[in-house]
Order: sequence, then C-alpha cells, then structure tokens
Amino acid sequence: HGYFTYDPGFMATGSCESAITYIDGAAGVLLHRGFPIEELARDADYLEVCHMLLHGDAPSKEEYEEFKSTITRHTMVHEQINMFFHGFRNDAHPMAMLCGTVGGMSSFYHSDLDVSNDEERKRSAHRLIAKMPTLVAMCYKYNIGQPFVYPRNDLSYAANFLNMMFSVPAEEFEISPAVERAMDRIFTLHADHEQNASTSTVRLAGSSGANPYACIAAGVASLWGPAHGGANEACLNMLEEIGTVDRIPEFIARAKDKADPFRLMGFGHRVYKNHDPRATVMRESCHEVLSELNVKDPLLEVAMELEKIALSDPYFAEKKLFPNVDFYSGIVLKAIGIPTNMFTCIFALSRTVGWISHWHEMMSDPKQKIGRPRQLYTGHNQRKYTPLK
Ligand code: CMC
Repeated sequence: HGYFTYDPGFMATGSCESAITYIDGAAGVLLHRGFPIEELARDADYLEVCHMLLHGDAPSKEEYEEFKSTITRHTMVHEQINMFFHGFRNDAHPMAMLCGTVGGMSSFYHSDLDVSNDEERKRSAHRLIAKMPTLVAMCYKYNIGQPFVYPRNDLSYAANFLNMMFSVPAEEFEISPAVERAMDRIFTLHADHEQNASTSTVRLAGSSGANPYACIAAGVASLWGPAHGGANEACLNMLEEIGTVDRIPEFIARAKDKADPFRLMGFGHRVYKNHDPRATVMRESCHEVLSELNVKDPLLEVAMELEKIALSDPYFAEKKLFPNVDFYSGIVLKAIGIPTNMFTCIFALSRTVGWISHWHEMMSDPKQKIGRPRQLYTGHNQRKYTPLK
C-alpha cells in the first residue's frame, strides 16, 4: 500500500539471502563458505578460494586441477580487445580503461549471454576470473607504453599476472616466490565481502537480467570510489602526503575536525566495529614481504605510527574506527612494484570472483526479483503547468 522502510545507505537493510560469505562485524569474523579468512590467507591459494566462492565448497585435488585448467583455458582475451585499448588516451586512469573493456567483453563473448542458462553463467564466470588479470595488466602496459604480454598458462594465477605486468619481450623475467605469495594473498584477502557497495551494484544490475560482463563493469565502477576500493590508492597517497612521523598529529587533527572533509584513509568500516580480520593478516604480510624483499619503506614507519596514535585517540575509539584491509595493502603493493594508480584495479581483479559468485547465486534462485528500492519524495506537490509558448 505504498508503505516502505526509509533506510539511507542501507544501514539496516538485508537485500538478499546468501550462502557465500559470513561476517560478524562485532567479533571481527569473516568466513567464506564457513572457512575463516585467516586460514584461507595462510594455507589456501586464490584459485582454491575462487572454487569455494563460485562452486560452493573447497575443491578436492582433482576438482582443483580441473578448475585450474578451465580457468587457464580462458586467460587470453579476444585479439580485437587490443584495438579497444588504442581508443583510450595513454594517460587514462587504469580503472577508466578497466570499466570500459570489461563492459566491452559483452560484445565479444556472445556464447555466454543467456543468463537463464546455468552452463553459460558458469562459463562467463570462468572467463571473467581468467581474463581480469589479462585486462588489468593490459591497462598498465598501455599506460606505460610497453607491449601487451600474453598470458602464460604454465604459471600460477598470481605469477601469470605478475609476468603480464612486469615482463618485456626483450629480456628474461624472474618472479620471486615471496612476491608471488604476497600477490596471491592480496587476491585472497579481497576475494569477497558479502553485500558491499560494488557487490550490491552487481546484484542490482543483474537483477534486471543484464549480461554478466555489463554487471561486472557496474561493479568496477562502484568499486572505484575512495570510500570503497579506491581507498587503497587514497591511503598510499595520504601516507606519502604525511611523509614523516612528525606530521601525523596535524593529519589526525584534520580527520577529527568536522569542518574538514579529510578522513584517515584505510580507517573505519561499515560492518567491522572491533577489527577487520583482513587487516590483521595484511599487517603481518606487510612486515613479512618488506623483510623478505629487503625493502626499507619509510611509509611503513609512518603507517605504524599513525595506527598507534589513532588507536590511542578517544575520537577513533569512540567511533570504533580501526585500520581496514586497505591500510596495509598499499604498502605491500608498492613493495611488489605496483604503481599506486593500479591499486584499485588489483582490488577489482580480486573481487571479480566475489561479484560473479553473487550474481550466479542470485540468478540461480527461482525467487529472484528485479531490485527496485523506493524513495522519500521531497519535491513539489502537484501544480499546474503554464505552457512556455
Ligand atoms: N576518518 C575520520 N573519521 C571517520 C572515518 C575516517 N576514516 N571514518 C568514519 N569517520 C567518522 C565519521 O565522520 C562519522 O562521524 P560522526 O558520527 O561524528 O558524523 C563516523 O565516523 C561514522 O562514519 P560514517 O561515514 O557514518 O560510517 P560509514 O559506515 O557510513 O562509513 C567508511 C564507512 C568505510 C566509508 C568510512 O569509515 C570511511 O570513509 N573510511 C575511509 C575510507 C576507507 O578506508 N574505505 C575502505 C573501506 S574497507 C575496503 C572496502 O570494503 O572497500
């Protein structure tokens, strides 16, 4: 009868049923298909996690091998996608190119656009998981003017991505196991996070029956903002702007000042009000990677001190603001050699499996309905129109 709940920002709205990911924000718990993120980050590889999220459970050895070969079969993108890139300015933001090229995939892979067909849905999911690293690396290569590098199916998912990012045809390229492990862990820690803004965007786009490539492009767009996936880039830029430990109090004061729009990037979360379990793993990983690679990054010192000062400040304690996953991920990505403007693309690559698993779960549900929120109208009452003529 026209009555509905007004809930700006969906602070108290459950939009769907889902069996993929569980979060207890008060206790700092994150489970994928029931498995704690800390265990997955330590002992599983990203493709195993992809199998869990998309296909419902941890794979057996045979299932893992089969899944891996299915994914690697799809790692190349259609050769004409190269031409797509050449339409962009070479200084375009990589997320702008990613948004366009992911959406553009729907003009290539016509054989998996029937969203009511389970097999086609799974094929598009496999294609997306396989092709995102290729597209993301192409964004980078296009920016720096180096030739695109084809995928190599003999490498792991993470190593293949690093090879496409950093190898050049002119010389041999070796990937250190520490870097490969760190990359894989970053993928795992960002793989899914239930109904966040970008996943909800993918679900809403998909609820109209839109094709999966268009839906994932919508997810990439939603992720881009600094309150969401853009936070890792914004956080590193912030640490660079702070520069030295003695400038931290100035930035803390700005973050607390209501008249200043500045926020501590990498701090706070809508759901976690105790700690972000991904941040705890990422913090450890950050120290490990920096020491294994023998990188002395002064930004780590700034980050550690900033964390210490913020955590002992009553403002942050009262508002339950803790470092989130993106507080440390930027430092790890920087140590690996990934430029700052690529950080959000790496997040998009990692989250693609989460997006497409949610889309597949929603499309498999016979009760699925188009998403259609209502509004609280604040405009004019009905009035008489006076024709201009
Ligand atoms: N620095 C300073 N104050 C903050 C911050 C911050 N990072 N985050 C929240 N606050 C304050 C905010 O001003 C508000 O104060 P008041 O109640 O006096 O108006 C209060 O804390 C609650 O903030 P909110 O914006 O109402 O909370 P939210 O749940 O809508 O927003 C958030 C969550 C993550 C968008 C926000 O904490 C934020 O902008 N953080 C910085 C950006 C960031 O790191 N985002 C990455 C999130 S984790 C990765 C991902 O999932 O994408």
